[in-house]
Amino acid sequence: MTHPTPLSSTPPLLHGNSYLIDGKLHPWTGPQSEVRSPLTVEGDQGPERVLLGSVPELGEKEGLAALDSAVRAYDHGRGDWPTAPAGERIAALEKFIHNMQPRRDQVVDLLMWEIGKKRADSEKEFDRTVQYLKDTIAEYKDLQREGSHINVVEGTMAQIRRGPLGVVLCLGPFNYPLNETFCVLLPAILMGNTCVFKPAKYGVLLMTPLLEAFAESFPPGVVNIVFGRGRTLASPIMKSGKVDVLALIGNSKSSNALISQHPKPNRVRQVLGLEAKNPAIVFPDADLEVAVKECVKGAWSFNGQRCTALKVVYVHRDIREAFLEAFAKATDALTWGSPLDNADITPLPELGKVDTMQSYLQEAVDKGATVVNARGGDVEGNMMFPAILHPVDRDTQLFREEQFGPLCPVLDFDSFEEVLADIAQSDYGQQVSLFTQDAATAGMCIDRLVNQVCRVNLNASCQRGPDSLPFTGRKDSAVSTLSVKAALRSFSIRTLVACPEGQKELVEQVIGGGHSAFSNMNYLL
Ligand code: G3H
Repeated sequence: MTHPTPLSSTPPLLHGNSYLIDGKLHPWTGPQSEVRSPLTVEGDQGPERVLLGSVPELGEKEGLAALDSAVRAYDHGRGDWPTAPAGERIAALEKFIHNMQPRRDQVVDLLMWEIGKKRADSEKEFDRTVQYLKDTIAEYKDLQREGSHINVVEGTMAQIRRGPLGVVLCLGPFNYPLNETFCVLLPAILMGNTCVFKPAKYGVLLMTPLLEAFAESFPPGVVNIVFGRGRTLASPIMKSGKVDVLALIGNSKSSNALISQHPKPNRVRQVLGLEAKNPAIVFPDADLEVAVKECVKGAWSFNGQRCTALKVVYVHRDIREAFLEAFAKATDALTWGSPLDNADITPLPELGKVDTMQSYLQEAVDKGATVVNARGGDVEGNMMFPAILHPVDRDTQLFREEQFGPLCPVLDFDSFEEVLADIAQSDYGQQVSLFTQDAATAGMCIDRLVNQVCRVNLNASCQRGPDSLPFTGRKDSAVSTLSVKAALRSFSIRTLVACPEGQKELVEQVIGGGHSAFSNMNYLL
């Protein structure tokens, strides 16, 4: 039997046997969870997922100990971290950035082996994250500068700053296990919150080399990292009622379940990046080359496993034949193979994912769709070659649900109203891509779409970046906004000191005497 994903280098073998609580790496001698790659080798019973190592499978006791550590460090907002001067928090994050950089090669390697992300994208994920953190520090300084002056409004003097919210439970996704997680975890920490972080089920081993970087950079209790099952760790943590913020990148079923376990759900700030079903809409006057190039990128990057992926394409009947032919041709030109060799299409990390994709595909075919591209739906090991399906019935799972994989349903339209009706009915509301060269069409669509989704892309696929742009969604797609600047706002609340103008002398004495860390006019350079 030929090997589906030839191994072009030796797999890493790493057994993580510690977790981080209270600033200390605790050795773990209890049960471990095996971590296996979506890349396979020939075993006794056929292809086997390559063993990459293991991580601790902690119990409820350790999860609650991590929570207690975060609660102690926050100490109702009176702890050393939430009250630390801005410069101290910046220094800690700078140290962390410094400490994580030497681990780049190891983390990139693990990204490829653990989740099958191709080399170029794995490197980009690491570098983009480092840049994001550096930009976060710059934004944080700006925020501090904004808060270092006093406003006088209707006879009231006020100094307004953004303060932390409390204890954050942070749960990351498997598709961007480093980037999406750190882009919520570290802004949350910088704002003075304390955190319990549990990595995703896949893309978990890559946290092991970074544990020391966390331990060396942040004071005890500020960040606590635990490994294990969500049900064992996250549920008791939520039930304790001690979580102030749920930061979760995943899906709304998980976030709703967790929020409902909190005895006072109203107290929990939600920072959520959830499911999406971003449509591309191709008008008859579209530049076909651009539309096809962007649809290939949008639908198939990382095998369609991006929340921002194009997950349904609407094509105008007048351009349908030409578009489908070109989309199929460009799709079939993609390479598949090992992420280490930078193949475009790579093995899928989730167990049973190929079966799920095949059942979506089969239902669509049973209800009248054809696989348009010659290689569409081919399977080797854990890889599935992307399939374009057309015309897809609205009464299919593939049309209704977020497939998060290498399938792209295509529907025809005559009038934009048909597309708009679907978008209005959809549970999702993240982004949309419009392909047209006509200004009147573009303008009309923009106005009809901006209140349905949160980003309308013109002649470009959907995406999160650049990271300084707001990233959010409506309906089941998100709660709160993320960006370098917005994340700092999402993890904080405005809090102020106010007094009548007559109290000027007292305020001057507080500030001039350096009596308060909050009430000061220090200008952070
Ligand atoms: O999975 C969702 C990510 O936030 C998408 O980010 O558009 O940069 O791939 P991206």
